[in-house]
Amino acid sequence: MDAPLIVLEDVCFAYDAERPVLRGVDFRLERGRRIGLTGANGSGKSTFLKLIVGLLRPTRGRVCVLGEERRVEREFLPVRQRVGFLFQDPDDQLFCPTVEEDVAFGPLNQGRPPAEVRELVTDALAVVGLEGFEHRITYRLSGGEKRLVALAGVLAMRPEILLLDEPVAGLDEAAQARITATLCGLRHEMIIVSHDQQFLDATATTTLHIRDGRVQA
Ligand SMILES: Nc1ncnc2c1ncn2[C@@H]1O[C@H](COP(=O)(O)OP(=O)(O)OP(=O)(O)O)[C@@H](O)[C@H]1O
Ligand SMILES: [Mg+2]
Repeated sequence: MDAPLIVLEDVCFAYDAERPVLRGVDFRLERGRRIGLTGANGSGKSTFLKLIVGLLRPTRGRVCVLGEERRVEREFLPVRQRVGFLFQDPDDQLFCPTVEEDVAFGPLNQGRPPAEVRELVTDALAVVGLEGFEHRITYRLSGGEKRLVALAGVLAMRPEILLLDEPVAGLDEAAQARITATLCGLRHEMIIVSHDQQFLDATATTTLHIRDGRVQA
C-alpha cells in the first residue's frame, strides 16, 4: 500500500496562546481519496489547510506531505509547487493587474515555458467558464469572478493534490455546477472545505468535521 499523501500527527496550533485553535489533530489523506471538511465558523478549517502548505507552523506535532516530514520553509517550498491551495478569500490569492497574469503566475513560477503557460491559462479559464477574460482587470472583477480566477490559477499549476477552501462560496448555480463537474472529472486527491453538504456529497469520497480542535469523523 502506498504511503498516505498527507499525514498530520498530534498537530496543535494557536494564534494566541490563550486560545488554542487546533488541539491534537490526527489526519491522513490516502491516495484516491477526496475529503470534504466541515466545521463551525472559526473552528479552524482554514488554519488546518494553511498548516499543510506551511503558511503556518504547528506549535506541536508533525506535518508530513508527499512522503516527507516538513518543518522549515525550505521543506515547504516543493510542497507549494505540487499542492494547489485555493485561499478562502480570493483577494489573498490574486495580486496581478490582469487575469492572464494572475493565472499564469503559478505555472511560470514552476519554470514552465511561456508557450506552455499560455495554453495552461487558456485551458484553466475555459474550465472555470471565463473564456475571454484574459485582459480583464483583476481587481475590478465581481466576487464570484475573482473566486473563479483564483481557482483557474490553482488548476493551471497542474497540482498533484488540491486543497480548496470554500471553492463555491458565493458562486451562482451555473458556476457551482461547472466547478462540481470539473472537480469530479479530476483524478487528484483533494481536501475541500465547504459548508455546502450537497456540494461535498457530489465531490468528496468522505466528509470529516473539525470539532473541539480536532478532525473527527
Ligand atoms: N491571523 C489570525 N490571528 C489571530 N486569530 C486568528 C487569525 N486567523 C484566524 N484566527 C482565529 O482562529 C480561529 C480559527 O480560524 P479559521 O479561519 O481557521 O476558522 P474557519 O474554520 O476557517 O472559519 P470559517 O468557516 O469562518 O472560514 C478563529 O477563532 C479565528 O478568529
Ligand atoms: Mg475558513
